[in-house]
Amino acid sequence: MDKLKVGIVGAAGRPSAFLAVFKESGKAALTAACDLNQEALDKALSDVEGVKRYTDYMEMLEKGDLDVVIIGTPMHLHVSQSIDALKKNINVFSEVTAAISIEECKMLLEACKLSRAQYMMGENCNYMKPYMIIQEMVRAGVFGDVFYAEGEYLHDIRELLYKTPWRRKYQFETRGITYGTHSLGPILSWMEGDRVESVCCVGTGRHNLDLKGAPIDGDDSAVMICKTAKGRLIKIRTDLSSPRPYSLNYVLQGTNAAYEGSFQGGGCSRDHVWINGKSAENQWDKLDNYEKKYLPRLWQDFGSKAEASGHGGSDVVIMTDFIDSIYEGRKVPIDIYDSLDMTLPGLVSQESILLEGRWLSVPDPRKW
Ligand SMILES: NC(=O)c1ccc[n+]([C@@H]2O[C@H](COP(=O)([O-])OP(=O)(O)OC[C@H]3O[C@@H](n4cnc5c(N)ncnc54)[C@H](O)[C@@H]3O)[C@@H](O)[C@H]2O)c1
Repeated sequence: MDKLKVGIVGAAGRPSAFLAVFKESGKAALTAACDLNQEALDKALSDVEGVKRYTDYMEMLEKGDLDVVIIGTPMHLHVSQSIDALKKNINVFSEVTAAISIEECKMLLEACKLSRAQYMMGENCNYMKPYMIIQEMVRAGVFGDVFYAEGEYLHDIRELLYKTPWRRKYQFETRGITYGTHSLGPILSWMEGDRVESVCCVGTGRHNLDLKGAPIDGDDSAVMICKTAKGRLIKIRTDLSSPRPYSLNYVLQGTNAAYEGSFQGGGCSRDHVWINGKSAENQWDKLDNYEKKYLPRLWQDFGSKAEASGHGGSDVVIMTDFIDSIYEGRKVPIDIYDSLDMTLPGLVSQESILLEGRWLSVPDPRKW
């Protein structure tokens, strides 16, 4: 079978992290790339050959003869660009978040239903090694009955307010959880078959100025509490503006085991578990001790090669898993429903925070 022909939009930004995958892939070739900023596009592709360059997305879709498009543009463009590709039966890998409103989620789902192509939201945190090990441990029953989790995305990205001004509106100044899929994604992967059914959200208000000393609307920290369909409790916190080192934190509690993990600035990570009847009393075990038994196949195939790549290796692993599924004609690993289950709670939290933290239902896209 011929290699899949892949195009990238927003190619000068985030998706450049995926270029390495296509250099080595026997299943997909990067054949087209698009960015509004021609100069930045040329720079991003400076050592990549054989890729047709575009500054107009529709032109790339029309002339590119693509099987797959990777959408790495600002958040508010994800849905319209996904729909344009799906209408042409081009498979979509979209950056997070899937959509910026509930209405957009409905439009995206409708387009997926009408298309012969598949859609996947690229939540790379689901593919980070420790969280995939935890997923295997949950599947194997090590945690017993899982009933509580926390996820925190604490990342002072105020410098990006000026470099990428769209972030001011869509990530900083909209109240509630605007960038929650990195936190919720792995947690939902540990609660397979469950979904968030209702949320409430409150915020701290704003205390931090931007890096030029100007005020920013919104909240420094927003906290969303989620109740799942199976009665589990999840706490999500995001903070994009407080001065502190980067931390991506998770907690998982079951009736037989507990996990605490933190991926931190400087590429450091701390992951430990405690297992009833196995770990010493009151003493955490390093998650590394369980890697040999629970490392999923996908990560075994990559090993240290992935770890050297972006976001703890997850960028290479997620893109390979997506490409493999399209090439082999399988269902994508994060389908449209999974993508919306990760995105919708944050969108509903944006209504809850304006209602002083009222509990609100999260729609089930399977019923749309
Ligand atoms: N998964 C992750 O870990 C991760 C990390 C960073 C960013 N992101 C997501 O990736 C997306 C991009 O983030 P970024 O930091 O690269 O943003 P950015 O603003 O730096 O880059 C976006 C690029 O898209 C281009 N662009 C904008 N509109 C376009 C259009 N209509 N047609 C073609 N090109 C267009 C811009 O010129 C720019 O080069 C965002 O949705 C963000 O949430 C995800």
